[in-house]
Amino acid sequence: MNKNNLEKLKKELLDFKKSPLYKFRMKNNFLPVLGEGSSVAKIMFIGEAPGKKEAETGKPFCGASGKMLDSLLESAGLKREDIYITNIVNDRPPENRDPSKKEIQMYSYFLEEQIKIIQPKIIVTLGRFSMDYIMEKFGLEDKLELIGKAHGKVFETDFDYGKVKIIPFYHPAVALYNGGMKKTLLKDFKKVFNKVSSL
Ligand code: URA
Repeated sequence: MNKNNLEKLKKELLDFKKSPLYKFRMKNNFLPVLGEGSSVAKIMFIGEAPGKKEAETGKPFCGASGKMLDSLLESAGLKREDIYITNIVNDRPPENRDPSKKEIQMYSYFLEEQIKIIQPKIIVTLGRFSMDYIMEKFGLEDKLELIGKAHGKVFETDFDYGKVKIIPFYHPAVALYNGGMKKTLLKDFKKVFNKVSSL
């Protein structure tokens, strides 16, 4: 059932012509990128937007940031097939620029549908755009801090389908050229997932 609903959503995304990123997608022969992983996952990771590799393959986090994410997941004892990974924006922005407010708003339908279908108990946001969007959506805007303070903290809230833990992490891309940030990310992954291993 969840799988069918995700397939339906993927088709809608393929046909999402009103997005300002649709022309760029078509001109470059790119694919839109919906989430991937277990359709009954308890943990959902939410990144920012697809990069070039992701737009070429239609798969989230399959380029350099994805390799970094894989190694962080492994260090925390998590397997990609047991979790669900998606983004707040589903088409690649030109030059890998930050997604605009308007783009985040336009694609929010797809993220919200994925959350409705999967109903994750834990949402891990990767990077500040995803953190800002999710904290607001889950009624935690008064707890919003800069990512330098919020990373690795667990925010609990009640949502339509029950209790949800929101956990902001830095985006794995920050660790690509900065060993110190990789250490911080590793520490956050290990700390958080040791604590929630009862799930
Ligand atoms: N960065 C993201 O935020 N998402 C991806 O899918 C790839 C890189």
